[in-house]
Amino acid sequence: MRFSADSSDVLVVGGGIIGLVTAWRSAQQGLRTTLADPAPGGGAAQVAAGMLAAVTELHYGEQTLLGLTVDSAARYPAFVAELEEVSGQETGFRACGTLSVALDSDDRAYLRELHALQLRSGLESEWLSGRECRRLEPMLAPGVRGGLRVDGDHQVDPRRLASALVTACERAGVVFHRTWVRRLRVTAGRATGAVLADGTELAAGQVVLAGGSLSARLEGLPEAVVPPVRPVKGQVVRLTVPPVYAPFLSRTVRAVVRGSQVYLVPRANGELVIGATTEEQGWDTTVTAGGVYELLRDAHELLPGITELPLAETRAGLRPTTPDNAPLLGPTALPGLHLATGHHRNGVLLTPVTGDVMAQVLTTGELPEVARPFSPDRFGPPREAPSPAPAPQEQPA
Ligand code: GLY
Repeated sequence: MRFSADSSDVLVVGGGIIGLVTAWRSAQQGLRTTLADPAPGGGAAQVAAGMLAAVTELHYGEQTLLGLTVDSAARYPAFVAELEEVSGQETGFRACGTLSVALDSDDRAYLRELHALQLRSGLESEWLSGRECRRLEPMLAPGVRGGLRVDGDHQVDPRRLASALVTACERAGVVFHRTWVRRLRVTAGRATGAVLADGTELAAGQVVLAGGSLSARLEGLPEAVVPPVRPVKGQVVRLTVPPVYAPFLSRTVRAVVRGSQVYLVPRANGELVIGATTEEQGWDTTVTAGGVYELLRDAHELLPGITELPLAETRAGLRPTTPDNAPLLGPTALPGLHLATGHHRNGVLLTPVTGDVMAQVLTTGELPEVARPFSPDRFGPPREAPSPAPAPQEQPA
């Protein structure tokens, strides 16, 4: 057994964007902060499209989550301005808006319902005819029957965001241990740090578990605090828009095509991200012919011109998902242990508010008002953890 030279105030387990923003904000509060992850900045952010879709991804029954997503979306411009300044890196944030379109009468009826829900929830969303949609985005198929223009749903590049957060953490003095955490350290009924894969013991006053879909797998977690998080697979395709076709799209375009969601996120650098499948496949991160076919088929119905674009990449990742699709934020029943995990489809969107919420929890012990509905204690006694994870490669945090 080896002990690291110094103990820290805060140990963050998991270096995806949620762990990184937590560590960055913690260090900014003057807390001596350590982060353990074999590849900080990896995980789901390397796969995600980066839509900041508080309004267009609103779902029935998730109005409580809406309070948090809208709050985080409002924080985004100042958040990326600060992060870009501190890190000296761009994040690819684009205040470009989103257009949700319908191709047939069923999809149109669904969008009409969604529009009514958005308006009842006090959100800004404008109904457009098919012709008005095509005037905004001329590459859309002639068959588009109508759509919703949401000028407040923007995008960021999650890979750049993750990279900028790593640099911001380094500059704020966060100490990185680029290795796996073997288990949580619990002493006299309190979380007191962790043991790394090489046996090194890290002592910490508080521990934040931000392990994404792997969060429930951390050894040493008392049963009462095992987070109810499971992996939900998403496959994504990346195309490239050559300059001759630019601008192929000027904003994010999404649709429900015969009941399945598809979205296309155009980046300023020419990348066009098409996502995403939603699959309950455990820890599987295989890119399948069926998944890619489904995405390209639906995207092609919306934008027939995509068949001309070079295929750059296919990839699958795992969303860390809870029973109510909302995150787990703040103190657990084990003193000293906090959670920042379970962000499901909204990890990128919820990054700014998660960082601020966790900084307040770590300095005051209290969850701010906006995060109270997302306390880990809302699920009561623990449920069964998901099946054992294989050696992780593409795991978010
Ligand atoms: N937020 C988009 C997705 O998870 O597919």
